[in-house]
Amino acid sequence: MITSDLPPIVKAKKRVGEAAAQQVKEGMVVGLGTGSTAVFFIHALALRCREGLKITAVATSLQSQFLAQQLGIPMVQSDSFTTLDLTVDGADEVDELFQIIKGGGGALMREKILAQSSREWVVIIDETKRVKALGQFPVPVEISPFGYASTIERLQQRGYQGKIRMENHLFFVTDNQNYIYDITFPDPIVDVQGKDIELRQISGVVETGFFYNKVSRLMVGTLDGQVVDIGPV
Ligand code: 5RP
Repeated sequence: MITSDLPPIVKAKKRVGEAAAQQVKEGMVVGLGTGSTAVFFIHALALRCREGLKITAVATSLQSQFLAQQLGIPMVQSDSFTTLDLTVDGADEVDELFQIIKGGGGALMREKILAQSSREWVVIIDETKRVKALGQFPVPVEISPFGYASTIERLQQRGYQGKIRMENHLFFVTDNQNYIYDITFPDPIVDVQGKDIELRQISGVVETGFFYNKVSRLMVGTLDGQVVDIGPV
């Protein structure tokens, strides 16, 4: 890859992904995030493995799992892990309280399981993802296909307007065989935790893209070529 030709935002993602790969230590069980920033992390980690680093990994999506396997990263059976040392994942928005929207790639449920299973959860973003308050990016909600129209009606009755996610004119299906309903908020979101709890109370809602009280470290790739390491927080 000729990196000098990359747009500044892609260079920022690459730099922060590579910097995060340096956080991984010998013997760790590592969670691999999903998305374009996480891809750079996975490539950089695979390079360290080829240079002799011994680790095992679990992926937050089939996409990341296939990439890691192709690159030769040793993978743990995804049904047998319990605690991970470190997970590195991307995000769609991060506010000043380190509350996060994730799931732009549809991997929110596995991402949250790995986040809660990890001693350290490192989030890697380019600087455009930092916001004062969450809400410009639609909040993905994973819903069961069974009764999905009814679940969406219940969501809409509570004021959560959105759209079911489509891919090639078909419903997008997650790695867990569910659908995604992307909620659009008209205003900045004030009570993230309250909204998350309310959404989870609706049967048919499997997971939300709100992540809070989870970040150990936020690493930000800036457009002027720096990696700013905020934390541990
Ligand atoms: C996937 C995610 C991604 O981490 C998030 O969408 C950020 O992606 P990118 O690094 O491509 O901007 O949550 O479900």
